[in-house]
Amino acid sequence: MKVLSVVGARPNFMKIAPIVKAIAEHNYDVRGYKTKMDHLLIHTGQHYDFAMSESFFGDLNLPAPDAYLGVGSNSHATQTAEIMTRVERILLEQRPDVVIVVGDVNSTMAAALVASKISYTAKGGRPKIAHVEAGLRSFDRTMPEEINRIVTDSLSDFLFVTEQSAIDNLRHEGVQEERIHFVGNTMIDTLLAFRDKALDRPVLRTLGLLTSCGEPLPYALLTLHRPSNVDDKDTFVDILRALEQIAKELPIVFPAHPRTQKQFSRFGLDGFFRLLETESDSLEERFLMEQGINVVPPFPYTDFLCLMANAKIVLTDSGGIQEETTCLGVPCVTIRDNTERPVTIAEGTNRLAGTTTDGIVRTFRMQIGRNVGHSSPRYWDGKAANRIVQVLVDQLQPL
Ligand code: UD1
Repeated sequence: MKVLSVVGARPNFMKIAPIVKAIAEHNYDVRGYKTKMDHLLIHTGQHYDFAMSESFFGDLNLPAPDAYLGVGSNSHATQTAEIMTRVERILLEQRPDVVIVVGDVNSTMAAALVASKISYTAKGGRPKIAHVEAGLRSFDRTMPEEINRIVTDSLSDFLFVTEQSAIDNLRHEGVQEERIHFVGNTMIDTLLAFRDKALDRPVLRTLGLLTSCGEPLPYALLTLHRPSNVDDKDTFVDILRALEQIAKELPIVFPAHPRTQKQFSRFGLDGFFRLLETESDSLEERFLMEQGINVVPPFPYTDFLCLMANAKIVLTDSGGIQEETTCLGVPCVTIRDNTERPVTIAEGTNRLAGTTTDGIVRTFRMQIGRNVGHSSPRYWDGKAANRIVQVLVDQLQPL
């Protein structure tokens, strides 16, 4: 069976890594038997900076992609079209039996759309499409990711879901039961596999976040990159005012996404931040974090996981971080009005804060005082990728 996986943006890499590993383990077990899976990994190049892409491959033991399509940044339409054109060429050349797409980025939707309409021969013939992390809905169609999720799910043959709400959403949309598979969360597979390695990373020392006895100092970790939060100056300033208040109580470490860095320069908001260089050796073992919002470049996966695991609290507008903090037992304040991952609120450590100054500060105060335990929603047990491979083998192996 020929399997082709398409990735493109930072959160895709953590979601595909355990699947690549599970396929290799499966092949080792069957050793030449007819269910052997030939796997190809295609990187669209939606993300291309070293810190947003290549650093993850080494960190997560991912093999180098079999093809790199180099699409780069552009408007949604142009980027999606470029991905489609280049993925089509690869699919016609390779003719996989199944195409795996993960998450909700433009690369996910573009690859699913191509695979759904391609014909290998004049008589037809197309790959099956498997969507990993299917069924999540924020019910907010102003989010580009929500459009990507809806389109990808409607085209996919295999809908691999991470939580019960996703099953409910898909049923509500009339999806046939046999397409839905509750397998768990491959991003949590990665977190569990790399947690020990992450805790050994020297990033706290590099950032001056350890006491002289080697204990972590208290800090808040921030991520912020959603267009609705950083592309509108008024909303961005409201959020920054809240962060300014919070930073008087707890220093904030802010690995800033390139999109956000561009926006705070464009809007002239640099005054809110303290920019730290982390490259210089002289920073080692110095106490760097002060009151304020300390901006650092984006980190590789295990460094970021180390920062998350040791934070007093995480402030974020990311989707995946709501899940990772649930698993780590770290209180999370989500700077959004909605979430497509409600299990993180019902069973986890997450609270929605909205995007107003008052709402964010209030939610921070509620969350910082909370004694949260770590939580494991159903099937967030490190075995999601193995379940995915098993479903594909059971349903696609030749008779
Ligand atoms: C994309 C995903 C989003 C995901 C995020 C994670 C879509 C629609 N959005 O958003 O769901 O949460 O990735 O990071 O697919 N840029 C660089 N270097 C890079 C990549 C991007 O400088 O390697 C800059 C460019 O200015 C670019 C901007 O960031 O225009 C946005 O990149 P893009 O991939 O369009 O969307 P993200 O905001 O990264």
